[in-house]
Amino acid sequence: TTLKMIFSIFRFFSLSLRTKLSPSVRAAAVNMSTLLVNRPQYSWLRELGLGEDNDGVYNGCWGGQGQVVTSYCPANNEPIARVRQATMAEYEETVQKAQDAWKVWADVPAPKRGEIVRQIGDALRGKIKALGSLVSLEMGKIYVEGVGEVQEYVDVCDYAVGLSRMIGGPILPSERPGHALIEQWNPVGLVGIITAFNFPVAVYGWNNAIALICGNVCLWKGAPTTPLTSVAVTRIVAEVLERNHLPGAICSMTCGGADIGTAMAKDERVGLLSFTGSTQVGKQVAMMVQERFGRQLLELGGNNAIIVFEDADLNLVVPSAVFASVGTAGQRCTTTRRLMLHESVHDDVVERIAKAYKQIRIGDPWDPNTLYGPLHTKQAVQQYLAAIDQAKQQGGTLVCGGKVMDRPGNYVEPTIITGLPHDAPIVHTETFVPILYVLKFKTEDEAFAWNNEVKQGLSSSIFTKDMGRVFRWLGPKGSDCGIVNVNIPTSGAEIGGAFGGEKHTGGGRESGSDSWKQYMRRSTCTINYSKDLPLAQGIKFE
Ligand code: UN1
Repeated sequence: TTLKMIFSIFRFFSLSLRTKLSPSVRAAAVNMSTLLVNRPQYSWLRELGLGEDNDGVYNGCWGGQGQVVTSYCPANNEPIARVRQATMAEYEETVQKAQDAWKVWADVPAPKRGEIVRQIGDALRGKIKALGSLVSLEMGKIYVEGVGEVQEYVDVCDYAVGLSRMIGGPILPSERPGHALIEQWNPVGLVGIITAFNFPVAVYGWNNAIALICGNVCLWKGAPTTPLTSVAVTRIVAEVLERNHLPGAICSMTCGGADIGTAMAKDERVGLLSFTGSTQVGKQVAMMVQERFGRQLLELGGNNAIIVFEDADLNLVVPSAVFASVGTAGQRCTTTRRLMLHESVHDDVVERIAKAYKQIRIGDPWDPNTLYGPLHTKQAVQQYLAAIDQAKQQGGTLVCGGKVMDRPGNYVEPTIITGLPHDAPIVHTETFVPILYVLKFKTEDEAFAWNNEVKQGLSSSIFTKDMGRVFRWLGPKGSDCGIVNVNIPTSGAEIGGAFGGEKHTGGGRESGSDSWKQYMRRSTCTINYSKDLPLAQGIKFE
């Protein structure tokens, strides 16, 4: 009601302004009071069930009695719509409902759970364009990347459907006669999922699809700056659950900030907490979860390098480096931040990449012609400027970029900096913006060492044709990252592999391969079906 009052006062002033001011000022005042969701060109937002005010809590019922947040479009900083976040009481209610829902869900046979996940994937397919557009509007990434991350959710649903008939443990040989030694995998129960602004759909999808087929229920808190995407995704998922007469709380959502995140981290009822975000926040989350000996899955920062050797195919290198450093405006955890060039190709590659940077089509992220959109927030623009200052102070030379762009929205120029020492503090810092540090190296040993000397350990790539070098790179003295590539960029991993990294990246693995194991607990079960009681290790106790 207070908010309604504020808005009516605001409306009153904009009305009185209209009578006194010039037409252009009047138009601006009217626009300011208009949420994008009300404009005809954004009518597709209604297709996703979004309106001016949206419920930010789902647990079978929709709610949201907490703080109201307005979501802004990074391309013009105009308000899109509002979301009512969860209160602590609503969080509590949601966890209880999720636990009740688990009692139902855990009894559903895994392949039947897979069938529900298949339907979720299909429902997402049906809305992929609208949802991709929303990601583009709210997060600021370009349309094809927005659609691309919905595609990751669709793909991991397909993957999880198959997996729902394959998860399980081995029957192992027992050393005792008449005994069976088997591994049984059970769900952990409630999986808490905290995701970041930069992949507001895909990262939830990887966790959600896999957690579900394992027999878990989910509670999601998306980033506070992408709440509309969380709501739209949850609407799609909820519809599938409700259509199948299942409790909606199987896929719960509580929009909120650090208060909800902290509650999830400290909550003993959360069997696994999956957190994606900065190393700094991830560390706090990890400490809170560890404090209660809880389980966690961390996807934290990266400081990813591409290493280009003298024998590299430069026709692959140039587009790879440009895609991985400029794509998503440098806001992927897999973004290439360090480009290590062999001294023999350094100048040539810098020239070619700088030329490509100048041709990048900058514009509205939802325009199909655009390759490069805004940063997500105004704070990110400040971080960009601060990093450029530091890089200059530490000896770097700007080859291109370096400035905030003169247009509405949080646009900055994609930037290349050369000449920094490999161990300059700024080179070892993950700034979540499109700045590429180019380093010059002489030997393979040196390049591999530089790749590994940073705290983070997410993604890494080499470009070479030397088979020996490829296998050294994959081996014990090669890359220490979770993602180790050859002749492809550091970003753009497929869902079929396990996604995650080592060291300060947090050690978690999501999505494909055997990542499902992180969402289950393993019991080693020994069953005696004989009439004797032989003890292990041949011990006689009589
Ligand atoms: C992230 O940036 O948090 O590999 C995830 C990639 C994407 C996922 C990135 N598939 O770049």
